Amino acid sequence: MRLNAWLRDAWRAGGTGGLNWHLHAAASQARWHNTQQQIDRWLARVQPTQRQLLLIGGSAGWMMSTAWLTCFKRVDVVDIDPLAPWLFSRRHGKALKQAACPWQFHRQDGIAGLPALLKQFPDAFVWFDNVLGQLRYRLDDEDALELQLGQIQRCLQGRSWGSVHDLYSGPTSVELPTQLDALCQAAEHGELHGGMPQYRVDRQTTSLENLGQSLLQRVDAEGIWQDHCTGVVFPAGTAVHMIPWAFKPRYCHWLELGWIRS
Ligand SMILES: C[S@@+](CC[C@H](N)C(=O)[O-])C[C@H]1O[C@@H](n2cnc3c(N)ncnc32)[C@H](O)[C@@H]1O
Repeated sequence: MRLNAWLRDAWRAGGTGGLNWHLHAAASQARWHNTQQQIDRWLARVQPTQRQLLLIGGSAGWMMSTAWLTCFKRVDVVDIDPLAPWLFSRRHGKALKQAACPWQFHRQDGIAGLPALLKQFPDAFVWFDNVLGQLRYRLDDEDALELQLGQIQRCLQGRSWGSVHDLYSGPTSVELPTQLDALCQAAEHGELHGGMPQYRVDRQTTSLENLGQSLLQRVDAEGIWQDHCTGVVFPAGTAVHMIPWAFKPRYCHWLELGWIRS
């Protein structure tokens, strides 16, 4: 049974990680480059006072900024994927060692085990690394999902934390890479949101719908798009940033990034 669970997680890790994820990520590095750079630039501005990082869903850190990791004095990576520590070490280990920043991998469920992890690491900045949008693949019931995401938010009250997660994903009528540069710049300069430097989370249904429409138009969306129900991750009023991600040649994700200082 234990071997079964190990093999299942090594292969798919809850449907969003494992060998499947690593092979796709390794083959997509060129297409993801702009998105990764934009995440790097955004993370460079996330400077919490905490010197310890609790990275949930860290995997191999395919989308993670090495420079940002080395700002911390210690990094703890939580993932259910047994292949993650080896690959994380290959991508970030050398720089972390040079920066004298020890890191440790914990193979466990970082969502179900969040309350215990918060107690275990009371002084850590908590970063959800593209994992909260994946809960959509485990829970079909949108109400139950929003309830669970709301519970996570409550659990984190009083803590400094942040997240990058899928907001929407779906097919596009054109391949994105040619226009991704311009799109990334537009997102970075806040042009997506009426010239505002950043979008502020607003719980009004109409503003969420307007935002969704505007994001989908930007990438020439077609067909059926998935709402990852992550519009409830951050409390109302949180400044968030949107970044387009050409996940596959004609399949795009809109990522939402934000963080909260305790
Ligand atoms: C889309 S991948 C992102 C991986 C990573 N952030 C990166 O940039 O390579 C989602 C990751 O979340 C992990 N994951 C999914 N559910 C999890 C959970 N409940 N606890 C911990 N990790 C989880 C998966 O194993 C996978 O590695």
